[in-house]
Amino acid sequence: MEIWHIRGGRRLAGSCTVQGSKNASLPILAASILCPLRCELFHVPQLRDVDAALRILRHLGCLAEQRDGRVYIDSTQLSCCSIPHALMEEMRSSVIFMGALLARCGEARLSLPGGCQLGKRPIDLHLAALRKLGAQIEEDGGEIACHAYGLRGAEIVFPLPSVGATENAMLAACAAKGETVIRGAAREPEIVALQGFLRAAGAQVDGAGSGTITVTGFRPRRSAACRIMPDRIVGATLACAAAATGGDVLLRDTDPKHFSTVLYFLNQAGCDIISSTHSVRIRSGGKLRGIGALETAPYPGFPTDAQPVLMAALLKAEGRTAITENIFENRFRQVPELRRLGAQIDLDGRTALIRGVDRLRGTALSATDLRGGAAMILAGLAADGETVICDEGHVTRGYERFDACLRSLGADVCLEY
Ligand code: UD1
Repeated sequence: MEIWHIRGGRRLAGSCTVQGSKNASLPILAASILCPLRCELFHVPQLRDVDAALRILRHLGCLAEQRDGRVYIDSTQLSCCSIPHALMEEMRSSVIFMGALLARCGEARLSLPGGCQLGKRPIDLHLAALRKLGAQIEEDGGEIACHAYGLRGAEIVFPLPSVGATENAMLAACAAKGETVIRGAAREPEIVALQGFLRAAGAQVDGAGSGTITVTGFRPRRSAACRIMPDRIVGATLACAAAATGGDVLLRDTDPKHFSTVLYFLNQAGCDIISSTHSVRIRSGGKLRGIGALETAPYPGFPTDAQPVLMAALLKAEGRTAITENIFENRFRQVPELRRLGAQIDLDGRTALIRGVDRLRGTALSATDLRGGAAMILAGLAADGETVICDEGHVTRGYERFDACLRSLGADVCLEY
């Protein structure tokens, strides 16, 4: 159990660097097994989810070490193509190893990652894409066994953009004979980052960032290196923390284009946003205003992962904000906890209506999930008195040394393990 102690009411000010992206690291770690490869990744955040991926790599027979933000992987000795349930259940995105194992070994055995707190999270699109490439897949009581006696390039058409399914399709297609065209692909920057790594490893992949990606072949190299992109959701969270506290924060080593929709709404709420290529300054004059209505959508729309933290920033804004969640069915789990601080939020199906209040009062909360937990921390920063958040390790799954980062900006935050 991790316990966050937050004494609110302090304005965040100063500058900080943004960690490497969790959601870019995980598929790239899986991609490191596509062929016998030694690779070095830089700017990898030290997080529980990254640890879980490294443990999977070691279980498969790879050498995988993390030191000072660098990860070194040598997959030349990979000797196993199954992942036990105990490792799979640690992290939903371990499903991404399916496409990579299939490409490397022609076989993958793993258990279903199961649902999570955000609601049903099916993997039908992942399985349909792999089947299209020629994989035979059997599902038996939560266990999945995939075999492919030679993957073949194919046209894969996704009915809706899925980040994980697009990544799995790209990975498996690297080992397919002939051209694969993925239509309806997710367009997230993490997909572009995966394409960058695959190219460094010798794959011919084009189109990431658009709705159509083509994979036309693979000439394996012996080694590959890449720097992990900055985490856009951590950037958005820190921007919202600045806004929530009437602060003035410069985020360095980030790419503001990747979370421009979040910055746009913070600007609508009354913050000054000064962006350059690798940094952004968020300056809030104090009282924010409600921003009317916004909806989450696949990239380049407003990210579902930033919805809880923007909500937290607007709890004391003057006027109303209606947030509609279109990606996950159960992504308002933070709301009952935020209400305990005095927030006024009504839920109506997929929409949360926030009416700004003058004051929030610190109290005891329980973190519900990764981004919901981050939202509670932000609300605690904006509340009077002390907020204590009990967290079964949700926040540290995605935020690296978040307590130290907030303290460096002047917050009174302490994380007790
Ligand atoms: C990724 C991110 C997660 C983010 C999400 C949406 C990682 C490790 N995680 O998750 O932080 O919140 O994108 O931006 O990168 N779906 C299906 N069938 C499938 C797959 C998905 O119906 O086979 C649906 C999901 O239920 C959801 C939507 O597609 O409604 C988008 O999900 P998806 O993009 O796949 O999310 P993840 O890749 O799991």
